[in-house]
Amino acid sequence: MTPTGNTLLRQRLSVPYEFPVVFTRAAFAPSNPLLADTVNRFGENRRHRVMVCLDSGAAGSWPKAEAGIRQYFKTHRKVMELAGRIEIIGGGERSKRDLTAVTRLIRLMAARNLDRQSVVLVIGGGSILDTAGLAASLVHRGLRVIRMPTTVVGQNDVGVGVKNGIDLFGTKNFLGTFAPPFAVINDFGFLDRLPDREWIAGISEAFKVAMIKDRRFFKFLCDNATRLRGRDRTAMEKLVVDCARLHLEHIRTGGDPFETGSARPLDFGHWSAHQLEVMSRYRLRHGEAVAIGIALDSFYAMRKGLIPETTFNTLIKGLEESGLPIWHRLLNQKDQSGKLALLTGLTRFQEHLGGPLTITLPGPIGRRIEIHSMDSALIQEGIAYLAARSR
Ligand SMILES: NC(=O)c1ccc[n+]([C@@H]2O[C@H](COP(=O)([O-])OP(=O)(O)OC[C@H]3O[C@@H](n4cnc5c(N)ncnc54)[C@H](O)[C@@H]3O)[C@@H](O)[C@H]2O)c1
Ligand SMILES: [Zn+2]
Repeated sequence: MTPTGNTLLRQRLSVPYEFPVVFTRAAFAPSNPLLADTVNRFGENRRHRVMVCLDSGAAGSWPKAEAGIRQYFKTHRKVMELAGRIEIIGGGERSKRDLTAVTRLIRLMAARNLDRQSVVLVIGGGSILDTAGLAASLVHRGLRVIRMPTTVVGQNDVGVGVKNGIDLFGTKNFLGTFAPPFAVINDFGFLDRLPDREWIAGISEAFKVAMIKDRRFFKFLCDNATRLRGRDRTAMEKLVVDCARLHLEHIRTGGDPFETGSARPLDFGHWSAHQLEVMSRYRLRHGEAVAIGIALDSFYAMRKGLIPETTFNTLIKGLEESGLPIWHRLLNQKDQSGKLALLTGLTRFQEHLGGPLTITLPGPIGRRIEIHSMDSALIQEGIAYLAARSR
């Protein structure tokens, strides 16, 4: 008994999570054992049931995708079998915009009698990883998910993270869970087939994490921006691996993998990015919105004396040379009360985490600081500056 007469029993759990993140090419070449070994990575030596969810965009750019996947399962039938047909999911943010795709997938997982030792193999962009990942995390309280990201954002950020989510009630990622994957397989071959717009959009997440974590990586990005835009494979593969590594390191060592505190450093530039995505009805790609978001918050950091003007100019040049936007007309949109509609993003960002508003800024480059309020006049000045500069 405690002095107050209450009965207190203490409980403390600590659960280590471990998952491999492997970079490869031609993951579905029958001679590449990686996927089969990954499915069987606990050495259970039996045939695992695998439901395959495939992004329609990835399927469209990959000749004979379904036949290739089926052939791979045939070759490796000792350890894996297809649980039903390959499920094609309409790619892009539309899969995240309501519960339709999630409930459909949950129904399919039930109809195919998946259990907690079955695998859901999700092949797709960040949106499909989020949508199918959420569905799989709910069924039987969590199935094994192997993520096979097919976009730059998917490989350098979403795939290596520990969360998923869909957009509801006008808020990005309103509904979601923390659910580390069973494994991540990044096949660079998918990136070769991406449309230019998706290829370029993913570069912004690398600038984001470099600005707050790694000045050498930041220099690499600025020095190679034109090569990246020109679809140089070697430069892009380095970008993807280094960016993924920095995300993994932060989640592992940052002290708050499941975001219980009020700070979310990996979301530098995202308070405005998420709001812009919503305001554009998702016409802006996540990566494009992030480029604008980090340009705006870096202007703010520069004016607060956290980064020198030269660094800010180097960033803007790097973003532009990569083909990324630094401005969008929606930045100037006003709400009914005449206030900048963008500023709602600050409220939503704070509401998502709870506690005091906490915004991460670079300061100096490669390091970060947290601030707890933002001056709207300075944000407006940043918007005007970026408008003039982007002209
Ligand atoms: N869970 C997380 O930790 C996390 C982190 C960062 C971003 N995200 C989310 O990820 C989403 C953005 O992901 P994205 O940038 O990968 O875009 P996306 O998944 O929306 O895909 C963009 C388009 O590319 C197509 N596509 C995918 N792979 C292709 C391929 N290989 N070839 C041709 N087309 C292909 C898709 O069908 C879609 O039309 C956003 O919703 C964002 O919020 C989540
Ligand atoms: Zn992001």
